[in-house]
Amino acid sequence: MVKTAGTLKLALLVASCSIALNLSFVMKLYLGMGLRASSEQDNDGWTRRAAEEAEAVASTDCSGHGRAYLDGFLVHGKAACECNMCYGGHDCSEFSPDCPANADSGDPLFLEPYWREHAASSAVLVPGWHRMGYSYTGETLISEALEGQVRKLHAVVGNADTNGKFILFGAGSTQLLYAAVHALSHDKNTNTSSPVSVVAKIPYYNLFETQTDFFDSRRYDFLGDAAVWKNRSDSGFIEFVTSPNNPDDQLNQPLLKGPNVKTIHDRAYFWPHFTAIPASPPDEDLTIFSTSKLTGHAGSRVGWALIKDKGVYERMANHLLLNTIGVSRDSQLRSPKLLKVVLEDGGRGIFEFGYGKMKSRWQRLRSTVSLSNRFTLQKVPSQDCTFFQELMRESTPAYAWVKCEWEKDQDCLEVMRAANIIGRGGALFKADKRYVRLRLIRGDDDFDHLVNRLHKLISREERRG
Ligand SMILES: Cc1ncc(COP(=O)(O)O)c(C=O)c1O
Repeated sequence: MVKTAGTLKLALLVASCSIALNLSFVMKLYLGMGLRASSEQDNDGWTRRAAEEAEAVASTDCSGHGRAYLDGFLVHGKAACECNMCYGGHDCSEFSPDCPANADSGDPLFLEPYWREHAASSAVLVPGWHRMGYSYTGETLISEALEGQVRKLHAVVGNADTNGKFILFGAGSTQLLYAAVHALSHDKNTNTSSPVSVVAKIPYYNLFETQTDFFDSRRYDFLGDAAVWKNRSDSGFIEFVTSPNNPDDQLNQPLLKGPNVKTIHDRAYFWPHFTAIPASPPDEDLTIFSTSKLTGHAGSRVGWALIKDKGVYERMANHLLLNTIGVSRDSQLRSPKLLKVVLEDGGRGIFEFGYGKMKSRWQRLRSTVSLSNRFTLQKVPSQDCTFFQELMRESTPAYAWVKCEWEKDQDCLEVMRAANIIGRGGALFKADKRYVRLRLIRGDDDFDHLVNRLHKLISREERRG
């Protein structure tokens, strides 16, 4: 009897264990399949969902005076408009007529409509697992695709000879300009024991000076105007030469020559939307370009240097390695995609768009300023442009370099400020205060506002005169 009851208990225990095991097996199978099914669904759908999200944000109505961004603010769970200057309200439809026309810094938004037209071909979709490592396969820090596109681009535009040159990418030309000063001032072949003198012809882009001073090395000093040292280049020199120049668009050439002189050519503005491209591409020892003023993607922070000398290349590469371990892989993914679009029609689309836009802006600006004897604009000789096959093409620079001609207008920045226009004063470029730089490369709203303000200022003077 006892035996029978014990056997029954054991049988019940075995049966309940088996049911529990089976249940857990079935649940595992079911839940596992469910989990796998939902993660596969996620993976199958990630492109669609990412695309839908991007399109929903891009289609936000900002009344044509702003745009919403994927990484922007959210209002009630929806992407909020970021408005152009002087526009406000939830959909950017409210214009503030008294708001200053800010023509100071250099955001190149004039190309935004081109990229809106090419939204499909320029879009990039990136999964979360994409290029998580520090380097590309083969331990390099540079995307082969990007390097290839850059060489192709220069061949098509004709603005640099890349044959036999090393290419290095940096976080904008800003990082490369400093890497170049570092590399050139550490050149063992420079026959000098004292610090190298860093110079640039006035008016110059003030980053050259602020960067050199800020990094404060005992290897070099910033000594200002290159013209002062023209006939005294026996000691070590590094000359920055910007062509076309920021701020005045002059096609600068090196002023200093000699065995101990090194030149850094800043070619940020040497693109067909701003200037004529001459017949033969310059073949320089060290030239720096950037996507900022080429495609307008200043925020991607991608610049490149073309370098002839292996030693200089290696010292610059080492600087970039220690400084940032190269350029963000995400930027190096997006930039070749953008350049692919540029190259699809041999650059005609973007450069025709950009040149057309800048040309019409300069026509409006010139006709406005021509009504006045108080202000003048920079003069740059016309040149033949091989890219557009155009004879005696006028330049269409990124900035107006305005001179206040009246005796009493000693400070042109102040004259503009009184008219509610914010420019960048000549003093910042080590030039006379009679000059002010006005930026012409933001969106249409900004340019319209600037020209209207100038028009008002000039017509008021006329009435007074
Ligand atoms: C002459 C010049 N060089 C370099 C730069 C820096 O450009 P990036 O955005 O490539 O750092 C600028 C920016 O306005 C510039 O005007």
